[in-house]
Amino acid sequence: MVDRPFGGPWTRDKLEILSRYLDSYTTVLKAQPFNLFYVEAFGGEGSWSPGSEYISDDYGDFNDLHRASPRIALQVQDKPFDRLLFIEKDPQSSESLQRLRSEFPSRNIAIVNGDANTELPRFCHDLQNFDRAVVFLDPFATEVEWDTVEAIAKTQKIDCWILFPLMAITRMMPTGNEPSQVLQDRLDRIFGGRQYWQSLYEPSLQLSFFDEEPKQERQHVSEGISVRYAERLESVFAEVAPTRRTFRNSKNAPMFALFFAASNPNGARRAIPIANHILNNW
Ligand SMILES: C[S@@+](CC[C@H](N)C(=O)[O-])C[C@H]1O[C@@H](n2cnc3c(N)ncnc32)[C@H](O)[C@@H]1O
Repeated sequence: MVDRPFGGPWTRDKLEILSRYLDSYTTVLKAQPFNLFYVEAFGGEGSWSPGSEYISDDYGDFNDLHRASPRIALQVQDKPFDRLLFIEKDPQSSESLQRLRSEFPSRNIAIVNGDANTELPRFCHDLQNFDRAVVFLDPFATEVEWDTVEAIAKTQKIDCWILFPLMAITRMMPTGNEPSQVLQDRLDRIFGGRQYWQSLYEPSLQLSFFDEEPKQERQHVSEGISVRYAERLESVFAEVAPTRRTFRNSKNAPMFALFFAASNPNGARRAIPIANHILNNW
């Protein structure tokens, strides 16, 4: 077990939400002739423990190893997934996933030691008519590229949970000035185009004596960033759950927003109310 700590109490909520959705999704589709896939694009290791930030008096008894999303997906009871794909870039973590697979010898589990932004579009491209999938995008930070999200949306076969790194993006967008060129390029890859994040900057009303042009200032903080990403998702998915969950750190600062998006217009009619109910109640 590599046991690399990450997350905190909010990780428990994130996994509870996912777990409840996977149970409902498989139950709702169990009478249908679909091959059901679960895809974990940022696979991890199969268990997790909280990051050092959380090993404090506030969350003292939380320093245990917990069941992580690949294991949760494997243990769906009512109608188990037909096939599971775990993509993981880190070789050591991939080995942990191999050990997890050996605990479930009768299950159809593929583990790919590779980059999610390459492997996931490949998976999307290969989906057949009767394949349906839930994809969980659970990165540490800003690893998810927009092209990957768009490839998922285009399939019309995938329901997708996306953990969006609000804090990392907020840090990439300084309040006083526009981001550096390197950060602008990264933001472009995350949002799929400059116009989707640059509109968060507006010309400053304060002109200094030496300024010829008004400076660009970011007028909105993380809520504005969330709204912009929700709009971007809505531009490519059949439907996006109106509720998203914001996870905060122990200092109450927003760290991540969890979004749900459905790519199939018919499937969305059932999937969105289920996901939205879970997001509102757990
Ligand atoms: C937050 S963890 C995933 C946690 C997992 N969902 C769980 O519940 O245990 C993110 C994982 O993504 C992996 N990773 C980072 N960048 C990646 C990439 N481009 N492609 C695939 N995996 C990546 C990291 O090595 C790490 O194991």
